[in-house]
Amino acid sequence: GAPVEVDIDKLEPGQQVTVEWRGKPIWVLRRTPTILERLATLTESGRLRDPLAKVATQQPGYISGPLRAIKEEYLVVIGICTHLGCVPSFRPEPGSVGDDWPGGYFCPCHGSKFDFAGRVFKAVPAPTNLEIPPYRFLSESRVEIG
Ligand code: FES
Repeated sequence: GAPVEVDIDKLEPGQQVTVEWRGKPIWVLRRTPTILERLATLTESGRLRDPLAKVATQQPGYISGPLRAIKEEYLVVIGICTHLGCVPSFRPEPGSVGDDWPGGYFCPCHGSKFDFAGRVFKAVPAPTNLEIPPYRFLSESRVEIG
């Protein structure tokens, strides 16, 4: 499939857009400083299965580290649950999926939970982090996926 370009200059902090690439939903989230703080806490929390994103199949080789992004402000991730392929929902409100919910993605099919780096929580059916697609920044305001 052809690459897809996304304009991100109108994306407000905390906002997410969805585009389609190869028939899959791709989410582009502009992460706030608060979200980045929560992700740093989660990395150390023991609540995530693969906090440092060691499973190499789940992101391109040029992306490494716990934030799983080229620029920390922007998460680009495939919006398909790694359990059986449902589309998780965007649940940014802390406490909205259980008292200790820090905001993230919740899969309605069997309850898998992912944070705003697409990292899977422990004790859910999904085995791995959400997949990061190949992408690059064409400019400050444009991302190419694929
Ligand atoms: Fe998402 Fe099963 S498909 S939890």
